[in-house]
Amino acid sequence: MVERETWATRTGFILAAVGSAVGLGNIWRFPFVTGEGGGAAFLLIYLLFVALVGFPAILVEFVVGRKTERNPVGALIELGGDAWKYVGGVFVLTGFVILSFYSVVAGWFIRYFLEGFRGSYATHLEGYEAAAAEAGVSTAEVMFGELSTGLDAFFFHTIFMLLTIGIVALGIRRGIELAVKTMVPAIIVLLVGLAIWAFTLPGSGAGYDYYLSPEFGVIVDNWQTLLPAAAGQAFFTLSLGMGVMITYASYLGEDRNLATDGVTIIGFDTGIAFLTGLVVFPIFFAADITPGEGGAGEIFVSMTSAFADVTGGHIIGLVFFGIVAIAALSSAISLLEVVTAYVIDEKGVERWKAALGMGGIIYLLGVPVTYDLVFLDLLDGFADGILLVFGALMLVLLVGWITPKFAVQELEKGIGDLGGLGTAWIWAIRVPILVVLVVSLYLGVVEYVEFLTEDFADWIDANL
Ligand code: PHE
Repeated sequence: MVERETWATRTGFILAAVGSAVGLGNIWRFPFVTGEGGGAAFLLIYLLFVALVGFPAILVEFVVGRKTERNPVGALIELGGDAWKYVGGVFVLTGFVILSFYSVVAGWFIRYFLEGFRGSYATHLEGYEAAAAEAGVSTAEVMFGELSTGLDAFFFHTIFMLLTIGIVALGIRRGIELAVKTMVPAIIVLLVGLAIWAFTLPGSGAGYDYYLSPEFGVIVDNWQTLLPAAAGQAFFTLSLGMGVMITYASYLGEDRNLATDGVTIIGFDTGIAFLTGLVVFPIFFAADITPGEGGAGEIFVSMTSAFADVTGGHIIGLVFFGIVAIAALSSAISLLEVVTAYVIDEKGVERWKAALGMGGIIYLLGVPVTYDLVFLDLLDGFADGILLVFGALMLVLLVGWITPKFAVQELEKGIGDLGGLGTAWIWAIRVPILVVLVVSLYLGVVEYVEFLTEDFADWIDANL
């Protein structure tokens, strides 16, 4: 085997990890999952989950990666023994499933980016207005309906997957670092600007209420749906539960302070998601749209109806959709990297062949999503509600119960003596976090089975 590469610059690791974390999870998935969870109630559970489970869990992946310097499958085998290769196999499968629908959604962003060059959103295309009036919905909703499936979606899924495969095949690391360095500040500036603008819209006030003031009764009544939804969203947005952070930490040549790195990554990721909510919900309430009903189209509908309303909105729009597409690319790269690194390390295949072969299969798996969005729920629900939570659970089990000794020592490298904190971390993952994950996984499975036997079964009856 060739000697493993390490990050080119001191900040390379942080940049790549932030690039992986910040993506469609923050901008696309967070607002609609929050809407489905009733707004503020979901936000609160989600934030608690990120702080109390996400942070300890990211440290688990970091220590496993830096200690073993292997791909996730190899890392698990080294620590736990041969049987753990099956868990590693689940990681690779998760990468397959997530990237397949991720690429389709990212393709929508490219499509909307290009749409910005054609003038105002949602107004110029023949038929949108008539069709909207007829269906009693906004033009923005008709537009999303038209673009989210069919040839458009198929074409841009293809483009996005080709870009991802190309970058992973060439192993360009410096490109990623540069992209993240410009993208993250740009996205923050843009979201802050949009949030301020949304604040000025008449009627937006109700949006803050909806998003920011939780009712505890609602949480108590709905915890069985809120918890698995928050778990799935937290792991998805932080790129946890499938070995991305193991892979990235495995390239760490130096003893960094992993705890502060974890806080930095989580801080950026959570901040950007939170900001997105400050843009989307006020816009929704100002435009009289009920959050939570638009599903995967939520961000597109809210943004385009806003951009269509202001002068020069298409320029802001194309910048917005363009930046998110870049953010999606840096996340997609990390997904394909896990799958590719596994094939390279464990099967000895050349990098470009591995990237092309695996990317090709993932691409095909995504194609049904461009046909009907029910396949988005099918793949997304399985990956986020079940696979990621399962992956995180297994890692916590391995590090907490089977090999706890190395973990504290590894975490102390770059930090110094942790004293009681190291033990507190181990015990947190051993018992409370483990229990929360088991419960989340159970509830996630129940929900997914419900989806399969109801919505999906109905779809099959109606279409096949
Ligand atoms: N965290 C990425 C996002 O929020 C998605 C992702 C999930 C990437 C899992 C890698 C692994 O868009």
